[in-house]
Amino acid sequence: MSQAYSNLENIVALAKRRGFIYPSAEIYGGINGIYDTGNLGVLLKENIKKLWLSSLSNTHGDILRFDGAQLGPEAVWRASGHIENFSDPMVDCLECKKRFRADEINLEKACTNCGKKNWTEPRAFNLMFKTQLGAMSGSASDAYLRPETAQSIFINFKNIISTNRTKIPFGVAQIGKAFRNEITPKQFLFRMREFEQMELEWFCTDKGSDDFFTYWLNKRLVFYHTYGINPEHIRLRPHEQTELSHYSRQTTDVEYLFPFGWKEMEGIAHRGTFDLTQHSTHSGKEMSVYDEEAKASYIPTVIECSVGLDRLFLMFLCNAYQEDTLEDETRVVLKLHPKVAPITAAILPLTNKLRSPVEKLYEILQAQGYSVTYDVSGSIGKRYRRQDEIGTPYCFTYDFDSETDQQITVRDRDTAKQERISIDRITQYLDSKLKI
Ligand code: GAP
Repeated sequence: MSQAYSNLENIVALAKRRGFIYPSAEIYGGINGIYDTGNLGVLLKENIKKLWLSSLSNTHGDILRFDGAQLGPEAVWRASGHIENFSDPMVDCLECKKRFRADEINLEKACTNCGKKNWTEPRAFNLMFKTQLGAMSGSASDAYLRPETAQSIFINFKNIISTNRTKIPFGVAQIGKAFRNEITPKQFLFRMREFEQMELEWFCTDKGSDDFFTYWLNKRLVFYHTYGINPEHIRLRPHEQTELSHYSRQTTDVEYLFPFGWKEMEGIAHRGTFDLTQHSTHSGKEMSVYDEEAKASYIPTVIECSVGLDRLFLMFLCNAYQEDTLEDETRVVLKLHPKVAPITAAILPLTNKLRSPVEKLYEILQAQGYSVTYDVSGSIGKRYRRQDEIGTPYCFTYDFDSETDQQITVRDRDTAKQERISIDRITQYLDSKLKI
């Protein structure tokens, strides 16, 4: 097994062991490409969402929030082009019945599952999950789980612009579930069937759109650099004309070097006027805005920044996971940026006898909104290791001297260096570390 794959295995094992991510329906054998999120995973995701949202603030226009429905009628997906175009090429092995994406295997070679060579012809497999609304059968009640969150924004464009009294250019940011019946879900959270997307749809004039495309591309890169992603593991890859999605004029992917190679992390797409024009044509509803200067109506152009929350989550784990040697012991440590780490600080009494003042301290910090934990069991060394493994950047240890000098020892996760600070400076200390 290659080093790269064993790294991913370690990350998957850690995520399960420490309650970040669980395979969904595990007691019934699990379900491919679908995962549940545990306590630390929820906290980590909440941090990523917050940082993503704050990273969108800009001086050019508003960023409005939106949360659309996950089910949409067939008409939406016909207009968006997903019914016609949203498919991957698929082949089946006629011997063992295993299904593959035709673009991911060599059809000249034997099946990697059974070793025989007996393929079906490649055919298009639509990735959307179809369902029926209500008890009536027939196409009137057909619906689909959304394969991207973006369409919810486009079909609400007129509602959004009229109720918010906003002006072009502006953006709509949405975080929500998307669903794709991936032929081969794989690599843990990388390709899932149910996942969360974070999408920004930026509405602008066509004239300014190329500049905004570059603007958002650069701004998104800053996000990765700010939160500690190794700059050598991030790169931009413009799409070839032949690989552009049906709606795209131009797309550049932000790629990350995962343990299994360079892969798409995020897509920045110039969607032109495709979506609003399609929905206007199919619904018969006006989608244009009025330009006061030109005294004419026009359909705005869209620049989209689209990233998977779960894929970002996996990237942060891959980037942070390290095994190093500390005091002659190998430790697993997640070197997450303090703003990304699910728990910012652990409050530890040196012994059980010191429990009471530490509990008080823990309660105060929690009430002030800090993400803190409290641990009394095991040696102090073992407790540090437990916090290292979940990425807690700071551990505060209250010892017998603390009783008299009102100071506490703070240990840094990455360097294991310790310093004494006054207890009433803890929040100041944390604030300075959480400030970028
Ligand atoms: N609205 C545009 C759009 O959906 P996409 O490239 O198909 O474009 C955007 O998806 C992002 O969503 C990807 O860059 C990736 O981060 C995430 N994503 C897509 N499919 C995914 C899957 N099956 N599992 C996890 N994340 C996925």
